[in-house]
Amino acid sequence: MWHGRFTKDTAKTVQDFTQSLDIDWRMYEADIQGSIAHVRMLGKTGILKPEESAKIEAGLLKVLDEIREGKFTPSESLEDVHMNIEARLTEIEPLGAKLHTARSRNDQVATTTRLYLRTRLQALSDDLRGLLSVLVSNAERHIDIIVPGYTHMQQAQPVSMGHYWLSWFEAFYRDSQRLKFALSSLNECPLGAGALAGSTLPIDRFMTSEILGFDRPTRNSLDTVANRDYMTDYHYFASVFMIHVSRLCNDLINWNTQEFGFIVLPDEFCTGSSMMPQKKNPDVLELARGKAGQVIGNMLDLMITLKGLPMTYNRDLQEDKRGLWASLDTVEAVVKIIAELLSKVDVDGELALAGLEKGYSLATDVAEYLVMKGVPFREAHAKVGKLVGWCIAEGLAFSDLTIEQWKEHIPEADPAMMGILSARESVNRRNVYGGTGFAQVRRQIEEAKGRM
Ligand code: ARG
Repeated sequence: MWHGRFTKDTAKTVQDFTQSLDIDWRMYEADIQGSIAHVRMLGKTGILKPEESAKIEAGLLKVLDEIREGKFTPSESLEDVHMNIEARLTEIEPLGAKLHTARSRNDQVATTTRLYLRTRLQALSDDLRGLLSVLVSNAERHIDIIVPGYTHMQQAQPVSMGHYWLSWFEAFYRDSQRLKFALSSLNECPLGAGALAGSTLPIDRFMTSEILGFDRPTRNSLDTVANRDYMTDYHYFASVFMIHVSRLCNDLINWNTQEFGFIVLPDEFCTGSSMMPQKKNPDVLELARGKAGQVIGNMLDLMITLKGLPMTYNRDLQEDKRGLWASLDTVEAVVKIIAELLSKVDVDGELALAGLEKGYSLATDVAEYLVMKGVPFREAHAKVGKLVGWCIAEGLAFSDLTIEQWKEHIPEADPAMMGILSARESVNRRNVYGGTGFAQVRRQIEEAKGRM
C-alpha cells in the first residue's frame, strides 16, 4: 500500500524495527475521532463533496465498530494505528483514499495523542480530587489526635494528626494545579500543520479545533510537529506527584513499625510473610514508593530523547509513548489505591501520646513561656536546653518534675507554667495562621473544602 517511489517492500526486519503499532494501537478511538473531525472539515470547506465526507465518516464509524467487536486485527506491516485504520477504511469505502487530504501523520499523531492523553488526564484529575477529599475527611476524623511532629526524624513538637493530613492536602493540591496546567498545555489542535508547513488547500483549522474541543489551533506548524512539551508537562506533574506519594508512604511505613506503632494499616492492604507468621507488611506503601523511580525515569527518558532533536519531526519522536503509557498506568493505579488505603488508616492516639510524653517535645513551649515573662529567647533556649540535659542524665521526663525542681533550674518558672505542660495545650496554643492549633486546623479544613 502507498508504494509511490519505492520499488521494493520494506524489509521484514525493518518493519519489525520501525513499527509502533504495539504502542499506539490503544489510541484507535482518538485516532478515529480526529479523522472524523478532519473529514467533516474537508466536506464543509468544499475540498471534498459533502456526500464524500459523509461516506468517509460512515466508513470510519464502521471501522470503529469492527475494532470494538474484535473483528479487525491490525497488522504491524502497516506500521501504526493511523495507517491501519486508513487502510481498513479504504477497503470498506474506496473514498477513504481521500481522507488523508491536507494531513500528514506528523500532525495526525500529535492530534491523536493529545486527544487520548486528554481523556486519560481528565479521569486522573477526578481521581486526584478523590484523594484530596479523603485527606480532608481524614483531617476531620483525626483532628483531636495528637502525634509527634518530626524534623530530622527526631521528635520535634506535638501536632494534630489533622494538621498532618492537611500537609499532604497542600502537596497534592499543588499537584492538581500542575495537572490542570498539563491539561491546558495539551489542549491545542495540531491538525492542519501537515508534515511541517501547513497546506496549500483551503482547510479551516479553527473548525477542526472546535469540533475536537480544543481551545485553539496550534500557532506555528513547525513547532506543532516538533513539540512534545504537552508530554513533558504531564511527566513533570507525574514525577512530583510520585515524589509526594513516596514521602507519604515512607512516613506511614515508619509509623507502622513496632518501634513507632501509632499507625494502624487496614489488614486488607497488607500481606503476610511466607515464613514468619507474625508479619503484617505494608507492601502497598512500599510498592507505591518503589514505583516513583520508574515515573521519574520515564520523564528523563523523554527529555533525553528530545534534547538532541532538530526542528521539526524526527522519527525518534515515535519513542515518546512507551514511557508515557507506563507512567499513566502507574499514576492512575497509585492515586486510587492510596486514596482507598488512606480512607481506612487508623491512628492509635494513646500510643502516640505515650511516646510524646517520654520525650521533651514541649521544650519550645517552655522557652516561649519564658519569653512572655521577659526572658530573651536565646537565654530561655539555653536554660531549657540545660534542663533537658539534666533530665536525660537523671532519667526524668518533664512531666516527672515538681515546680521546685523547675525553679531550681529556671528561676522564672511559676505554677501557672505547669498548666501549659501538656501536648494538648501545646497544640492548642499554636494558634497562628497555618499552625497546628485546633482552631487553625478547623479553619484549614473549611478552606480546603472551598478549594476543592
Ligand atoms: N508511527 C509514527 C509515529 O508514531 C507516525 C509518524 C510518521 N511520520 C513520518 N514522517 N514517518 O511517530
